[in-house]
Amino acid sequence: MAAPGGAGPIGPFPEGIDTPEAQDEYEKLRRRLLWTLPSGLYVVGSRAGGRRNAMTLSWATQVSFEPKLVGIGVEKTALTHELIASGGAFSLCTIDQEDRAIVRKFTKPVEVDEAGGTLNGFAFHDAPVTGVPVLDQAVAWVDCEVRNPVDAGGHTFFVGEVVACGFQKDEGTPVLRMEDTRMSYGG
Ligand SMILES: Cc1cc2nc3c(=O)[nH]c(=O)nc-3n(C[C@H](O)[C@H](O)[C@H](O)COP(=O)(O)O)c2cc1C
Repeated sequence: MAAPGGAGPIGPFPEGIDTPEAQDEYEKLRRRLLWTLPSGLYVVGSRAGGRRNAMTLSWATQVSFEPKLVGIGVEKTALTHELIASGGAFSLCTIDQEDRAIVRKFTKPVEVDEAGGTLNGFAFHDAPVTGVPVLDQAVAWVDCEVRNPVDAGGHTFFVGEVVACGFQKDEGTPVLRMEDTRMSYGG
């Protein structure tokens, strides 16, 4: 399976791109191009029974307005994948641009302090309908029940229905996007 961001030239290749050098060149160009697709930067909460996790995610989008469906692409090897597949729910939290350092804290399985109500030291509470964790510091959150897990190679695209949502900061708070950081994902 391809590592995050791809592990060497991955086909298909257009006609004429048939030497290892040309394929390598094409791979790099395609990756640079895919990195230019604008995306947000979020923290996704997941839970299966008493196990909770939160992870940084960029592949999220609304996919329907009736019903209200939001999709997220989650790596099959991530703990988050296991918890969403088992718990059938996820939260999607938007992050204040001022809090951009947060996203670096959620790129590995987190330390959960249930008694203290923290994930990697960040306070959380459980979403009202599904019980998945939501960061207290998030600008806003949606609580989603998985309706359709779509296989997408190295990732599953979990399509969830918004069953609750809320703002926790002023509605005009600028939310974090990939371009506000030096980070990238995929490509
Ligand atoms: C900027 C950035 C964006 C990311 N976007 C995604 C994403 O959209 N989907 C995904 O599965 N992982 C994404 N990741 C990787 C996860 O955050 C990382 O694999 C994490 O370790 C998975 O956590 P888990 O095993 O605790 O669930 C991203 C990482 C970074 C740094």
